[in-house]
Amino acid sequence: MEKSKVDYEKMYYGFPVILISFYDKNGVPNVTTLSSSYSLKDMVVLGFNTKGYAINEIIHVKDFVINVPDRSLVQEINFCGSKSGFECSKFDEANLTPVKSPLVNAPVIQECPIAIECTLTDVIERDQYQGITNVLAAVKGRYVAKEYLDHEGRLQPSMLNNILYVGDGVNRGYRYMEECNN
Ligand SMILES: Cc1cc2nc3c(=O)[nH]c(=O)nc-3n(C[C@H](O)[C@H](O)[C@H](O)COP(=O)(O)O)c2cc1C
Repeated sequence: MEKSKVDYEKMYYGFPVILISFYDKNGVPNVTTLSSSYSLKDMVVLGFNTKGYAINEIIHVKDFVINVPDRSLVQEINFCGSKSGFECSKFDEANLTPVKSPLVNAPVIQECPIAIECTLTDVIERDQYQGITNVLAAVKGRYVAKEYLDHEGRLQPSMLNNILYVGDGVNRGYRYMEECNN
């Protein structure tokens, strides 16, 4: 494939949109939208803007839940990704329901088909990457909507309806997963 060299400020090549829910220091549930994440075994890594409300609360309270929304929740994703918890408790205004998670002290979002309970273990900030706070967290529990499971309780990949966030710093948009049979 012939390529052009580009000088974008970023290249987000399709990261799944997730909703991070937590109880703040006062026990009030809140939520933010993220796309910077990956997971390996029982560890997850998340990337936050250092100044956001969510990260500054999670550093103190430690527990949070990664909720994987589907495309029916785009409006809520955009709301939670444009308003800050410094302004409001987003659960009061978004059409999302926080339910106390069984294992960690954080709310699961009822409307999302996948939830991953996490406890923060490491906070990484480097002079070279000013304004970015990376966190490592340990996975404590995982929950999947029953209709996503096969008869042995395993995940059916074809059922996922995740949203991918794509952008170059100027153009940005969502891509949706398509059904395939392999
Ligand atoms: C699709 C999408 C993906 C986003 N990904 C991230 C991200 O990976 N890291 C981040 O810090 N902010 C991300 N944001 C922006 C935050 O969600 C936004 O700044 C939010 O208002 C922060 O809320 P808070 O101050 O309550 O934490 C994203 C927003 C959208 C809509």
